[in-house]
Amino acid sequence: MLLFHPGVLVFASVASASIDFSSLPSHPRLMFTDERVQAVLSMNETDLYYQDVLGYLKKTAVTAIATPLSLSSASSWSSTIRMNVGATAGMYRLTNDTAYSEWVIETILTVANLSDWDPSNFLNTADITMTVSLGYDWVYDELTENQRKTIEAAISEKSFVPALNSSINSWSEHTNNWAQVTHGCLIIGTLAIGDINATIATQVIDFSLPKLNVSLQQYAPDGGWVEGYSYGTYAGIFLGLMMGSLDSALGNDLGISSLPGMGNLGAWLTHGFGQTGGFSWADGAWTFSNANSLWSIGYWATRFNQAGWLQGMLSKFTTAEAATFQAFLFYNATLNTTNVLSGIPRYNQFENVAGMTYRTSWKNSDGWFYGFIGGYNGRSHGHLDAGSFVVDYKGYRWAELLGSDSYSLTNYFTAPRRWTYYRCRSEGANTLSISNRTQTALHFANQIPSANNSLIRVGSFDSSSRFGIANLTEAYANVSTSVLRGVAVLDDSQFFVRDEIIAPDAVDIAASWHTTANVSLGADNRTAFLTQGDITMDITLMLPSNAYLELVDTNPCNAYSGCSEMTNSGINNVAVRLPNLTTNVTILLALTESGTMPKKFNTSLNSWYSMCTMDCWKGENVEDPYWLRNAEVYY
Ligand SMILES: *[C@@H]1O[C@H](CO)[C@@H](O)[C@H](O)[C@H]1NC(C)=O
Ligand SMILES: *[C@@H]1O[C@H](CO)[C@@H](O)[C@H](O)[C@H]1NC(C)=O
Ligand SMILES: *[C@@H]1O[C@H](CO)[C@@H](O)[C@H](O)[C@H]1NC(C)=O
Ligand SMILES: *[C@@H]1O[C@H](CO)[C@@H](O)[C@H](O)[C@H]1NC(C)=O
Ligand SMILES: *[C@@H]1O[C@H](CO)[C@@H](O)[C@H](O)[C@H]1NC(C)=O
Ligand SMILES: *[C@@H]1O[C@H](CO)[C@@H](O)[C@H](O)[C@H]1NC(C)=O
Ligand SMILES: *[C@@H]1O[C@H](CO)[C@@H](O)[C@H](O)[C@H]1NC(C)=O
Ligand SMILES: *[C@@H]1O[C@H](CO)[C@@H](O)[C@H](O)[C@H]1NC(C)=O
Ligand SMILES: *[C@@H]1O[C@H](CO)[C@@H](O)[C@H](O)[C@H]1NC(C)=O
Ligand SMILES: *[C@@H]1O[C@H](CO)[C@@H](O)[C@H](O)[C@H]1NC(C)=O
Ligand SMILES: *[C@@H]1O[C@H](CO)[C@@H](O)[C@H](O)[C@H]1NC(C)=O
Ligand SMILES: *[C@@H]1O[C@H](CO)[C@@H](O)[C@H](O)[C@H]1NC(C)=O
Repeated sequence: MLLFHPGVLVFASVASASIDFSSLPSHPRLMFTDERVQAVLSMNETDLYYQDVLGYLKKTAVTAIATPLSLSSASSWSSTIRMNVGATAGMYRLTNDTAYSEWVIETILTVANLSDWDPSNFLNTADITMTVSLGYDWVYDELTENQRKTIEAAISEKSFVPALNSSINSWSEHTNNWAQVTHGCLIIGTLAIGDINATIATQVIDFSLPKLNVSLQQYAPDGGWVEGYSYGTYAGIFLGLMMGSLDSALGNDLGISSLPGMGNLGAWLTHGFGQTGGFSWADGAWTFSNANSLWSIGYWATRFNQAGWLQGMLSKFTTAEAATFQAFLFYNATLNTTNVLSGIPRYNQFENVAGMTYRTSWKNSDGWFYGFIGGYNGRSHGHLDAGSFVVDYKGYRWAELLGSDSYSLTNYFTAPRRWTYYRCRSEGANTLSISNRTQTALHFANQIPSANNSLIRVGSFDSSSRFGIANLTEAYANVSTSVLRGVAVLDDSQFFVRDEIIAPDAVDIAASWHTTANVSLGADNRTAFLTQGDITMDITLMLPSNAYLELVDTNPCNAYSGCSEMTNSGINNVAVRLPNLTTNVTILLALTESGTMPKKFNTSLNSWYSMCTMDCWKGENVEDPYWLRNAEVYY
C-alpha cells in the first residue's frame, strides 16, 4: 500500500513503502534500545564529561520520583512531564532500578486515566502522546498485561482517535512548527503501539506523513527554518526524536533525512547560536535555559557524522544544562573526542531563510557574533522585520530582536491587526521604516507584508571580516525604487550597517536598533553609548552628516488607549532620524567598543561585491521562494 495520496506525493525521494506494524521489533524499540544502553554505559566508563551529564540526569530522576505529580493545566505540565519521564525512564533503562520504573508507571497511568489529553490544543496532546509512548516503551518489561492495555487504549482513544476526527482536527492543516510536533509525536505513538492495532496505526500514518511532508519541504534547499531559531529548535525537538524512533523501530527513516535541506538543518542550528542565545527573529525568543530544544543537533550530528555540530552545541551549555533526557539518546563520545571547532567555518548563509551568521571565534566568547536576515515577510509567526540583525559582543547582546507579544492579543495572528502591534511592526525590529510623510515615534511606517527580501551577496574582504547584503526593495516598493542594506564586521573588531535608499519622491527614513543596554547619547546626538556590565559600546552615526540619533519611545501604550501590549520597559530604540525628506540617501552606522575609533569605511555596497576575496556567495532575488509555497502567511 502507498503511504502517499497521489496529490501529496511531493518528493520522489521519500520512501513510499508502508510500515508493516506486525513486524516491529520487541520493546524497547524507541531509541533507547539494548544496544544504545550498552553504548551509553560504555561511553560513561571513558568519557568524564558524559559521566557528569549522566550524574545530573540521575539527579533529575531522583528529584522527580520524590516530588508529587501536579497535572493542573496540560500546557504547563506536558513539557515538564516529558523531561521527567524521559530522565526517569532513561535511568531505569541504565540501572534496572525499579524505583525509577515504578514512578514512570504511576505517572503514565495517571496521565492515561485523564479524561482527555487536551485535544483542543493538539500540541499538548502530541507532547503527552510522545511522553506516554516513550515511558511505556522504556519500562515495558515492568508493566503488567493490564497496565499495558490501559496505556495502549489511552494512546489510541486520547490521541489517535481525536487526531483523526475531522470535526476537531483543523490543527492538522498547519504547515509550520505544529506539523513536526503533532505529526512527529503521532508517528512515535504508532511505533510504540502499532503492533496492537495496525488498522488505526496505519490510518494515523496515512494521515500524518503526507502533512508532515508538506512542512518538511520548507527545509529546502539548505536547512534553515523560516520561523526563526526558537521555532526551529522547538520543531527540532520532535523531529529529532521522531527520526531516532523511526531509525530504531524500522531500521530506516522513510527517506526523510534525504529530503532537500534536511542534511543541513544541523548546520543551521549550529551556526544560528551566538554567544548569548539564538538568532531568533519574528515571534521567536532567543534565550535558552537548557539544551532540550538544541539536542536534535545531536541526532543530526551522528546521522551526518558532523563533530562540529555536536561540539558547537555542547560548548554553549553547562554540563547541567546539557543534561536533558536526549543526552541518553543523542550524545556521541566519538564526535566529542578531538576538538574540531577551530576548524569549522565561522560563517554560514541560508538561502531558504535569506539569513546569515558570522562569529569571530567558536571558542572565545570575547569576540563578535552577528546574524542578519533579508527575510520573507508575513510567513508563519513572521514580523515585518526584513533587514534585521542581532549582535553579540563579549558575552552581551547589543542589538536584539524582541520576539513576540502575547499570543492572546486580539487578532494577533490575523492581518491587518497583527501589523499594528509594536513587536510585529517594522519599527519594533532592527530595520528601516520609510514613508512619504514625516514619521513620529510609535507610528513609523511598516514594510510590505508579502515582500520577499533576498540576501544577495555574502563574503569576506579578508579573513577577519564578513559582510552580507540584503535587497529590501520589495519591502518598500510603495515608496522606494531601491533599498539595499549591508552589514559587515571589519578587522574582527567593528560592526557596520550601511543603507542605500533611492526613492522616486522624497521620503522620511528611520532606522531602528533595539537594545536592553543602558543608553545615553553624546552631546551632538551622533553617538550613542551602550553599557552592559563593565562593557561600553559606541554606536556612531557616520552618514549622512545631517542625521541624528534619537532614543524613541518603545512603549506602544503611549500611542493609543486600550493598549494591552507589552510596554517594553527597559528596552531602548536607538533610532537614526533624518532632518528632512529625501530621494537619495546613504545611512552608515558603526558599533565599536568604547575607545576604538570606527574606521573610515565609506564604500558603496556595489563595491563590497567587488571587494570580496574569500568565500564569496552570490544569491539572487528570489521572487518565488518555491520551498515556501505551502508556508502559512498573514497577508
Ligand atoms: C557512570 O560512571 C560512574 C563512574 O564510574 C558511576 O558512578 C555511575 O554509576 C555510572 N552511571 C551509570 C548509569 O552506570
Ligand atoms: C538490566 O537487565 C537486563 C535484562 O535482564 C540485563 O541484560 C542488563 O544487564 C541489566 N543492566 C544492569 C545495569 O544491571
Ligand atoms: C481514574 O480517574 C478516576 C476519576 O477521574 C478516579 O476515580 C480513578 O481512581 C482513577 N484511576 C486511577 C487508576 O488512577
Ligand atoms: C469527533 O468530535 C466531535 C466533537 O468533539 C464528537 O462529537 C464526535 O463524537 C467525535 N467523533 C468521533 C468518531 O470520535
Ligand atoms: C482497531 O482500530 C480500528 C480503527 O479505529 C477500530 O475500528 C478497531 O475496533 C480496533 N481494533 C481493536 C482490536 O481494538
Ligand atoms: C557516532 O557518530 C558516528 C558518525 O556518524 C557513528 O558512526 C557512530 O555510530 C556514532 N556512535 C554512537 C554511539 O552513536
Ligand atoms: C565534550 O564536550 C564538552 C562540552 O563542550 C567538553 O567540555 C569536553 O571537553 C568534550 N570532550 C570530552 C572528551 O569530554
Ligand atoms: C504617500 O503614499 C501613499 C501610499 O503609500 C499614497 O496614498 C499617498 O498619496 C502618498 N502621499 C504623498 C504626499 O505622496
Ligand atoms: C533588488 O530587487 C529589485 C526588485 O526585486 C530588483 O529590481 C533589483 O534589481 C534588485 N537589486 C539588486 C542590486 O539586486
Ligand atoms: C540632541 O537631542 C536632544 C533631545 O532630542 C535635543 O534636546 C538636543 O538639542 C539635541 N542636540 C543637538 C546638538 O542637536
Ligand atoms: C529639506 O528639503 C528641502 C527640499 O527638498 C530643501 O530645500 C531644504 O534645504 C532641506 N532642509 C534641510 C535641513 O536639509
Ligand atoms: C544617489 O547619490 C549617490 C551619491 O551622491 C550618487 O552617486 C547616485 O548617483 C545617486 N543616485 C541617484 C539615483 O540619484
